Amino acid sequence: MKLRVGIEAMGVAVPRRFISIEDLAERRGVDPAKYTHGLGAREMAIAEPGEDTVALAALAAQRALAAAGNRELGMLVVGTETGVDHSKPVASFVHGLLELPRTMRVFDTQHACYGGTAGVMAAVEWIASGAAGGRAALVVCSDVARYGLHTAGEPTQGAGAVAMVIAQDPAMLELDVGISGAASSHVHDFWRPLGQREAQVDGHYSMRCYTDALATAYRGWKQRAIARELVLGDGIASEQLARICYHVPFCKMAKKAHVALRALDFAELGRTDTDDAAAASFAAQVEPSLAACSRVGNIYTGSLYLALLSALDASASSLVGKRLGLFSYGSGCTSEFFSGVVGARAAELSARAELASVLAARDRISIDEYERIMGLTAPLGQPASFRFTGVEAHRREYARD
Ligand code: CAA
Repeated sequence: MKLRVGIEAMGVAVPRRFISIEDLAERRGVDPAKYTHGLGAREMAIAEPGEDTVALAALAAQRALAAAGNRELGMLVVGTETGVDHSKPVASFVHGLLELPRTMRVFDTQHACYGGTAGVMAAVEWIASGAAGGRAALVVCSDVARYGLHTAGEPTQGAGAVAMVIAQDPAMLELDVGISGAASSHVHDFWRPLGQREAQVDGHYSMRCYTDALATAYRGWKQRAIARELVLGDGIASEQLARICYHVPFCKMAKKAHVALRALDFAELGRTDTDDAAAASFAAQVEPSLAACSRVGNIYTGSLYLALLSALDASASSLVGKRLGLFSYGSGCTSEFFSGVVGARAAELSARAELASVLAARDRISIDEYERIMGLTAPLGQPASFRFTGVEAHRREYARD
């Protein structure tokens, strides 16, 4: 019997501070419209060292588990680009901080921003295979995205975590298991050498790598989706998806991706007319997913899932039973286009993530304060649900307040 598998519940954690992107533009002597309209940003989350990948992951995971209610877990995966140790995974710290059961698989998955999707796929296929035996998985995407002060990437930084409980008969989103398209190639578009806190990036090239990967991954998904009659091949396939959530390194990238996707559909239908509906399609299918991303910035592995939560938060009740497309991109690069159908209790479950309150609870800081925090290596030591407190005998220590 085919098992129905997907996202049961979600939880989000962001640093307690943010800056206004217009304040940053003003300080850098840049026209604010470049950042707001050119990149689509509004605010950017700023993590102090105490709010590291582990602390953010633990808080998001705690919230997702509370939203899901009582679930027997058999797997914990953390997808991250910003691990805290060469050997011990972030997932191991989260497992300990949340005092999760001993009888679980616990590991990290890494491939830049795709790491979270690698975890989601591992969990989904584990459950779909029957190996989970009715148990659920906890998948957490957690990152601190840093390019450094005065770099072109500076306005596209951010930090945060999105956790998901993946389960059988999911309430939020049932994934179309096995209907996905992947694309990978060995490119140096974005990477972070060992020992460096800031990423290296070939910015404009990275955008081309993203759209090239999207084309191949989307074609793969479309072929399988048409074969299984999830979409009709004689129409514009992407228009048959109620929403498309993209990986969002900055919001304008999602717009570029969507334009590229439609161009591909047009080309495959042999259409040479201009795409008059492109703007309306973006506004209806993609824009609702960008609200939180525009206020947090890039959170690498979690960006796609923050976009998904935003889309559901905005209009889950009108999306019940409808199919969404999702595109995950990890530089280097690998990517996957996949899809899922919104569950009957998606509105209730997305409301439990309390996205608006999580964002509203933050404090806006000045650019002076942001620059000071970016230079810190030791935690500020403020109370928090979970926080990194320092290194003792080569061991990273955490506190729960
Ligand atoms: N008013 C309005 N718009 C303006 C403007 C103004 N005064 N000045 C410039 N703009 C527009 C530009 O026209 C451009 O828009 P279009 O691309 O639509 O033409 C936009 O603002 C950005 O301008 P530039 O391209 O000149 O900006 P830049 O070269 O300074 O840097 C960037 C942009 C390359 C994205 C840089 O921020 C960067 O390197 N970011 C990190 C890399 C990244 O996010 N890559 C995404 C793909 S890789 C990925 O997805 C994985 C990942 O998470 C990292």
